[in-house]
Amino acid sequence: MIDLKSEKEIELIAKSAEILSEVLIKMKEMIKPGITTEEIDGLARKMVKDRGVKAAFLGYRGYPAAVCVSVNEEVVHGIPSSKIKLKEGDIVSLDFGVEREGFFSDAALTVPVGKISGRAQKLIKVTQEALLKGIDMAKPGNRISDISAAVQRYVEANGFSVVRDLCGHGVGRKVHEEPMIPNFGKPGQGPLIQPGMVLAIEPMVNAGSYEVATLDDEWTVVTMDGAVSAHFEHTVAVTENGPVILTRHS
Ligand code: MF3
Ligand code: CO
Repeated sequence: MIDLKSEKEIELIAKSAEILSEVLIKMKEMIKPGITTEEIDGLARKMVKDRGVKAAFLGYRGYPAAVCVSVNEEVVHGIPSSKIKLKEGDIVSLDFGVEREGFFSDAALTVPVGKISGRAQKLIKVTQEALLKGIDMAKPGNRISDISAAVQRYVEANGFSVVRDLCGHGVGRKVHEEPMIPNFGKPGQGPLIQPGMVLAIEPMVNAGSYEVATLDDEWTVVTMDGAVSAHFEHTVAVTENGPVILTRHS
C-alpha cells in the first residue's frame, strides 16, 4: 500500500531532509585526495549526533555505517573504511539518510576528487540531469513509470546505461516504502502519481553496461565490467502543483 502523507507529515519529512542536506553538503566539501571514506562517515556520525537526529542507514538490515560511500566502479552501498583512501581522478558517490522524529529522508550525489576524466565528468552531469528529468514527471495524473521512462530515455540518449537491479522508492515513515520506482521501462504504467506521495527518485548510471554484482561483503554493488558509475537521489514530495524537492545537493 502506498502511504499518502498529510501536509503536516510532509513538513516533518522536509525538516528531516533539511538536516540531511546540510550533512551531505558538508561531506561533499571534505572530499579531496588523501582522505579516507571512514573519515567521511565520521563526520556524518558526529553531525547527526550534534543535531539530535539519527543516521537512517546505520543498522538498517545490518548496514554497518552512517553513510554509503561508493568509489568509481562501485555503484551503491560501499562501506566506509580506513583502508579506502580517495585519490585524484576518482569519483565518489555519497548516499545518506536521516531519521528525525520518526520521519525519514534519503538523498545521494556523486562528486569528483580533484581533476577527473572528461567521460567521468559527463557521466556525473548526465546522471544529475536524468534525476531532474525524472522529478519533472512526478506530478499528479502521471504514472510511476513515466518517471522511469524519462530517466532511461535521457541516460541512453547520452550513451550511458541505467542500473536495473536497484530502484527508487517511497520514503517517509520508513526508509523504503511503496511504490518501487525503476529507472527504466515503458511510460504509462504502475501506480497513478497522487498529491501526498513522497518519493526517493535515484538513478544509478553506468558508463559501460548496466550489469552489476554484489561483493563478498554482501553490500557493495559494483559494475560487472569495471566501468565507473554515478548516483543522484532526491526526496521529492508530490503536491497538486507538481513535485517539490525536499533535499538539497549544493
Ligand atoms: N538510499 C539507499 C537506498 O535507497 C539506502 C541505503 S540502504 C543501506 O537503497 F542499507 F545501505 F543503508
Ligand atoms: Co534511496
